[in-house]
Amino acid sequence: MEVVIVAAPSEGARLVADAIVRLVRDQDEAVIGLATGSTPEGTYAELGLRVAGGSLDPDHVRGFLLDEYVGLPEGHPASYREVIRRQVVEPLGLHPARVCGPNGLADDLPLECRRYEAAIASAGGVDLQLLGIGTDGHIGFNEPGSSLSSRTRLKTLTASTRADNRRFFGEGDEVPSHVLTQGIGTILESSHLVLMAWGSEKAAAVAAAVEGPLRALVPASAIQLHPHATVVVDEGAAGSLELASYYREVWEAKPAWQGI
Ligand code: F6R
Repeated sequence: MEVVIVAAPSEGARLVADAIVRLVRDQDEAVIGLATGSTPEGTYAELGLRVAGGSLDPDHVRGFLLDEYVGLPEGHPASYREVIRRQVVEPLGLHPARVCGPNGLADDLPLECRRYEAAIASAGGVDLQLLGIGTDGHIGFNEPGSSLSSRTRLKTLTASTRADNRRFFGEGDEVPSHVLTQGIGTILESSHLVLMAWGSEKAAAVAAAVEGPLRALVPASAIQLHPHATVVVDEGAAGSLELASYYREVWEAKPAWQGI
């Protein structure tokens, strides 16, 4: 696992955008796993700049959402389909059909989860999966206690995640208690995992995920099993890492052309 400690989230966003631009250049088409929430916003803005500058062709990018709330009405501003439309599809000029997400309004949710897994597989899998991390250690919406080999399925959010996500909902609007999320087993199948975290409120979760024991209580610790996982954190989120100075040393010695 590579841990990159950056001075500011904007520097991390540039590094991650560089990796995506390189991937599209090298492979001709890249499938990106799209996280939502505050963490990847800078990366999406940076990708918009790359498209505007001509170094990224949106016709060579496909996207699969990590998760979605269950039961939010079509077009609800906090639904992840809408968030990705505003932050990725429109600013990057992606054709909407190139981005898929699990349908949280499906009549048959287990069938929808199987359909979603099949859609990812038929796209050839995810090349680069963007991840944030919950303060409770979740990735996607795989809350503590999730099976480390789980597939896309229905999950119940913890009270702490619902409180954390309250800020995305209007006054009087309930944060849904149920979600569809790619499983940890699904996430681990992508070729490159890029987990980002900003701010000291993520420090304990990041340390538990990167340096703690592998355990269902910290779903993000599953990234330790992945052969190509990159953790990009700012100083605040790196605040509890025991090996921080070693990670810095490794990064400083790495040739710049390698990127993450
Ligand atoms: C979002 C997701 C979540 C978030 C996590 C962090 O698609 O899957 O795991 O990445 O809750 O959220 P923020 O970035 O808002 O702190």
